[in-house]
Amino acid sequence: MDHRIRSLSEYTQAYDKSVENPEEFWGEIASSFQWKKKWDDVLNWNFKGPDVKWFINGKLNITENALDRHLETRGDQVAILWEPNDPNEPHQEITFQQLHEKVCQFSNAMKNNGVGKGDRVIIYMPMVPEAAVAMLACARIGAIHSVVFAGFSANALADRINDCGAKMVLTSDGNFRGAKTIEVKSVVDEALEKTSTVEKVIVFQRTRTEVTMKEGRDIWWHEAIDGVSSENEAEEMDSEDLLFILYTSGSTGQPKGVVHTCGGYMVYTYYSFLNVFQYGEGDIYWCTADIGWITGHSYIVYGPLLAGATTMMFEGVPTYPDAGRFWHACDKHQVNQFYTAPTAIRALEAHGLEPLEPYKLDSLKVIGSVGEPINEEAWHWYHLNVGKGNCPLVDTWWQTETGGIMISALAGVTPVKPAHASLPLPGIQPIIVNSEGNELTGKNVEGNLCIKFPWPSILRTTYGDHERCRQTYFSAYENLYFTGDGVKRDHDGYLRILGRVDDVINVSGHRMGTAEVENAIDEHPKVIESAVVGYPHDIKGQGIYAYIIAEADGIEDEIRKTVTELIGPIAKPDKIQLVSGLPKTRSGKIMRRILRKIASGDVSNLGDTSTLLNPEIVEELKSGKV
Ligand code: WT7
Repeated sequence: MDHRIRSLSEYTQAYDKSVENPEEFWGEIASSFQWKKKWDDVLNWNFKGPDVKWFINGKLNITENALDRHLETRGDQVAILWEPNDPNEPHQEITFQQLHEKVCQFSNAMKNNGVGKGDRVIIYMPMVPEAAVAMLACARIGAIHSVVFAGFSANALADRINDCGAKMVLTSDGNFRGAKTIEVKSVVDEALEKTSTVEKVIVFQRTRTEVTMKEGRDIWWHEAIDGVSSENEAEEMDSEDLLFILYTSGSTGQPKGVVHTCGGYMVYTYYSFLNVFQYGEGDIYWCTADIGWITGHSYIVYGPLLAGATTMMFEGVPTYPDAGRFWHACDKHQVNQFYTAPTAIRALEAHGLEPLEPYKLDSLKVIGSVGEPINEEAWHWYHLNVGKGNCPLVDTWWQTETGGIMISALAGVTPVKPAHASLPLPGIQPIIVNSEGNELTGKNVEGNLCIKFPWPSILRTTYGDHERCRQTYFSAYENLYFTGDGVKRDHDGYLRILGRVDDVINVSGHRMGTAEVENAIDEHPKVIESAVVGYPHDIKGQGIYAYIIAEADGIEDEIRKTVTELIGPIAKPDKIQLVSGLPKTRSGKIMRRILRKIASGDVSNLGDTSTLLNPEIVEELKSGKV
């Protein structure tokens, strides 16, 4: 099976076919997988419900396609190449055969501990191969995994456990990150005090940090698999059975559980991986994301393994032991495709070229970017110094909700243009609309980015609250999926993502709802009201700026602590301005436009402030800017 597009004309052909006959197009790609039973219809959909189903009544198990299917042809090929936090600790190479055994064995261990099809399992683990094993074992037995980034606080973890009613938590004793050792199990313990559904916790031993093990509830990973068979018959899943839930922030306070299902997600992550990165036999592919985010799900674990790729997993951080770590690892493992975030690029750029000097980077063929708009400066630095000017740089636009890459060049096949995500993948039909929902056709237009036709890995619902899914994504414009991003189609017809148009900010590639951060700030007993906006930040892309009305002075650090406790360090405001009031309209709405402008230092033209109830506050805000 090879669905790799190799030329611009093949791309055009594939794209046209995917629009003219989507069912035939995706049906052909899906046919190359192992199905326990073939589907009746390829697609059934409406965006009103929304109700989208792909490969209807098809039966499969995604792990048979990611693992079993490869055993005959590539059992001895490395599936997961693991690079530890400490470069002096040996790396690990796990072949498809070995990964299959580990997944089967852990599947049995999970079953022995009472988990089965349809149960929800939280994975709160560091970047060790066992985290991937955990995800795949869930998928194999039909349990629905929900990975929570191990930087989230006990509170945030508890919210997610409660929202999905998880029965099991998979975790570790601790987590090595750079020079730090972070406690993990104790965070789980704290979270579990606020939840009641979790029956068992399986703890992987990584740091040998001292932990308390609760009798009857907590089991060590190595004991759970001790003597357990590594043969396991994969559960038969329907195409539309839930594969996983992944929580993500939106413009309202509570994160929502984005739901992806087995069949469509499998087909799309495979196809997009292969084509965007132009993965070839024997290549070593490395995505630096964390499995706590969708990038880790789709392009460290599922996409690459489905394509039979060697996928590298990195436990550490880009600056440990020094700012050359990424480049050291690229040379050490002869990485061919390298995929990272603009925030990492900008952080490394700030260290200058010296950390790059000892390394050749001559194995690299493709470099990629994801998570936020990449500014032209960072694009050129990355292209020139990492890609040595001759690696195609793919700027990949997508979202947790889209499951896979939607708009991107196909490396070396379709043209690239600095800071442009460029063209949609086959099967993806973006349209640009104005605020009235009218399509903006032609070139040199700017508006809101929507998608007008389903693709196999579109989110199906938000867990436990379908109406919220409809409201958030399918109600702004009739019959369109609304992404929340602004976009420009330039004079050449290439798409450039302009960033969020809603109350969502993007901090170091992490999505953050301003309302969510405000809710956390407001929990501080001395806070009366707050308003959070993003502002341009050299490294993070956007920083978090909080305007706060409080009953006391000098409480900035306490507020930061509150936010860290309630969400995690990633949501901590970079700047806090204590104010006596917030600019409000007569209807009591905060005029965020003004707050954004002041936070970004752009106060020359604040627009019309005459509708404000308290126009005098603007001067105070301007003069007190931090
Ligand atoms: C939001 C989705 C999808 C992987 C990681 C983030 C922004 C993502 C790009 C890009 C400009 C981008 C968008 C999007 N975004 N990739 N290449 N260029 N913006 O996933 O947390 O679901 O966030 O990230 O604003 O809506 P996420």
